[in-house]
Amino acid sequence: MEYLNIALPKGRLADQTLGFFRKAGIPCLDLEKDTRKLIHIDEDNKLRIYLVKTADVPVYVEYGAADIGVVGKDTLLEEGRNVYDVLNLGFGACRMCVCGEPKYLGKTHEIDNKRVATKYPKIAGDYYEKVKSEKVEIIKLNGSVELAPLCNLSELIVDIVESGKTLKANGLVVLEDICDISAHLIVNKVSMNMKTDKISYIIQALKKELEDDTCI
Ligand code: PRP
Repeated sequence: MEYLNIALPKGRLADQTLGFFRKAGIPCLDLEKDTRKLIHIDEDNKLRIYLVKTADVPVYVEYGAADIGVVGKDTLLEEGRNVYDVLNLGFGACRMCVCGEPKYLGKTHEIDNKRVATKYPKIAGDYYEKVKSEKVEIIKLNGSVELAPLCNLSELIVDIVESGKTLKANGLVVLEDICDISAHLIVNKVSMNMKTDKISYIIQALKKELEDDTCI
């Protein structure tokens, strides 16, 4: 029987995804702990699990190296890849926000020549161009974005807020909400036709679990 190849982001989201699959009655293995192996093969259930960097999940799925993947909506919006975004899985929930010092609460429109630091230049650019119709300077960073307003690299940041602890620890606040984020199931467009039975079974099982969850 053919394998189904699944791309998952390394770390917590991979365990959460497999936990959710099992809860939905989809048999799959527990990932081995303390290993740097990037492929986990589940012979019993004919699944191959690839652990990749979050931003690369849609790349593996678009090119068909993986048939399906699970990734945050933030990455999907930022990467803009040619994949089917089939299901919002609900977990990994957080918000994409504009943040900065509390002195800008309700006053972001007063900042001249705004500089916005972010790991998400596309999301930030689309927000300022399409929603706010404002010209801003977007500064791409690769992490620890909260540092930018503290050392005058930018007035504002666009970033993920989950617990709010990072903002709080650095004296920053949410100034504007951009959108809700959570984990989504994505599918390669060819695989959807070639491995329809297996993929539909997974989608239906996950959908049912989501419906049952909301009924409780
Ligand atoms: C993410 C995000 C925020 C933080 C938000 O960063 O970019 O910095 O988590 O989480 P919180 O609201 O629960 O504090 P991540 O931990 O991925 O590290 P990074 O800053 O190096 O990207």
